[in-house]
Amino acid sequence: MKINYGHILKDHDDTIRQKSKKVDLPLSEENRQTLNNLLTYVRNSTDPELSEKENLRPAVGIAAPQIGIFKQLLAVVIHDENGNPIEYALANPRIVSHSVQNAYLKSGEGCLSVEDVHEGYVYRHARICVKGYDLLVDKEITIQAEGFLAIVLQHEIDHFNGILFYDRIHKDDPWKEDPKAVVIE
Ligand code: NI
Repeated sequence: MKINYGHILKDHDDTIRQKSKKVDLPLSEENRQTLNNLLTYVRNSTDPELSEKENLRPAVGIAAPQIGIFKQLLAVVIHDENGNPIEYALANPRIVSHSVQNAYLKSGEGCLSVEDVHEGYVYRHARICVKGYDLLVDKEITIQAEGFLAIVLQHEIDHFNGILFYDRIHKDDPWKEDPKAVVIE
């Protein structure tokens, strides 16, 4: 299935809150295909021509539950400071350790499943260690992530528990300061 924005579950549908299950390894053909479809969406979504032609909305990550597949599969595509892509197509990714220090994106977070604006700081761990199976290298990997990558991975892994970014914004004080937090520009 070629994914487009129309396939994305939005947050007015409570289904997005459902929990996702781990997948068996080695990956089935079906789960490989799902991971490839997720990765293709994210890769193509930031190409202006393709995103227009295929009805994509730009994203740096997507999780399988966002297309109604409640399995622990996700894809991430970000770029390093030289513009080189850093890509993951992960099965069963889990955070095995994290910093006490928080971090947040200065411009806030967005999500393919969220159409309304939700303002406020979304604090996450500044540094995380993630283990999971990566389709792109076809083996179990360990990712030491910080900065933007750490934020994106935590955002996507949250989807497996039905958690959306704005759930992490302080209800009464959305701009509550954490003086020790790392600000990611
Ligand atoms: Ni999201």
